[in-house]
Amino acid sequence: MESHLSTRGEDFAKKKPTFLGVLENAWDPLLNPEGIVNLGLAENTLMHAEMKELMNSKIQVDSHSLTYGDGFSGSRKLKEAICHFLNKNFSPDTALLPSHITVTSGVSNALECSAWALFDQGDHVMVGRPYFNAFRSTFSDRAGVGLLEVEFGKVDPFGLAAIEKYEEALSAARQKGFRVKALLLCSPHNPLGRCYRENVLREYMRLCERHKLHLISDEIYALSVWESPDLPDPVSFKSILSINAAQIMDPSRVHVVWGLSKDFGATGLRIGCLISQSNGRLLEATEGFSLLNFPSSLADSLAASLLMNDTFTSHYLTTNRQRLTQSYDFVTTFLKSHRIPYCQSNAAFFLWIRLGAATADRKATDDEILAKLRNQKVYIAAGYAYASEESGWFRMVFAHPRDVLEEGLKRMLQALAS
Ligand SMILES: Cc1ncc(COP(=O)(O)O)c(C=O)c1O
Repeated sequence: MESHLSTRGEDFAKKKPTFLGVLENAWDPLLNPEGIVNLGLAENTLMHAEMKELMNSKIQVDSHSLTYGDGFSGSRKLKEAICHFLNKNFSPDTALLPSHITVTSGVSNALECSAWALFDQGDHVMVGRPYFNAFRSTFSDRAGVGLLEVEFGKVDPFGLAAIEKYEEALSAARQKGFRVKALLLCSPHNPLGRCYRENVLREYMRLCERHKLHLISDEIYALSVWESPDLPDPVSFKSILSINAAQIMDPSRVHVVWGLSKDFGATGLRIGCLISQSNGRLLEATEGFSLLNFPSSLADSLAASLLMNDTFTSHYLTTNRQRLTQSYDFVTTFLKSHRIPYCQSNAAFFLWIRLGAATADRKATDDEILAKLRNQKVYIAAGYAYASEESGWFRMVFAHPRDVLEEGLKRMLQALAS
């Protein structure tokens, strides 16, 4: 049968995400014990009980939720609630105001808005390897903005020396005629689960000033930073907003994205925001196409009530951190006892694990390991999807209750032994 799609329609059809098959057949100990255990998708279900209880009992829906609200860039109420919450939790150098924010349907959408409004088709954004795989599609699929990948080799991607790697990549790319317009930081980092020190962040800002680059800081995991039993002297989260940008770089080139998907375990709410404190024109530009991507007024209203509820949010964030520590401890104890190497982390909900060094068949390629995992019905994402510089690495999500982790790890071991 002919599809009758356009050329671009055919291109998009080929890009249907492969993890959707996992979601259609998700494991449940009672309802679907033969289903797939999902330790691949970046979701945190550790606090779902508390969040459901709040939403089902405390939050009232008004008729505002059934309308276009106050416009297409988020309600005034939600913008005020985001300011209230982030002014407390991000310690911005200049207090956030509603006029600094565009609300979007999720953080990917906030990033795509920045791609449309800041860049032209064919421009490039620098990003260090490995990086969150959807950055590529977010910037390029519709807005046509390319990623310029930066390799670190043996250099610590969180240290000062990494900045030289960006300088080298930038100058090589510009010599080849690439238009490089921005640096994208994921802070805290997906998939490595670590934070950047303040002096390193300042150095990134200087780099951006030297080369007239925008700095886009994706801080979606900002408040999911926890005590790691592996790291007695960890680097904690520091928002770019907490640094006085004007002393270092043109502040109109500093942009931050954040949302509820990760820090509040609510990927389904689809609430994110683009924050730019010194570039009102950027926010106006995103309003120019906001009709095409604005969030549901119902989600907007729920998010506003949540973020204004100080008692709930402070209890949530503290308990979430404790549970992330416990889950990390549980999984890393298991990994150590089975001699599976991993990178230590203290942020987000990932373990970057080296399954390539732990398979019975030491010659197995990453695709062969993926197939073994698939045969055992456990989904763990391959590092190459995140542009890992080395083969053998996988990203495991550990922000799930104990029964899910136990079942997933059991299946992972069976896969490694096969
Ligand atoms: C670093 C990073 N940015 C953005 C997103 C997308 O978030 P959202 O679901 O709010 O679009 C994710 C989701 O995994 C992520 O890890």
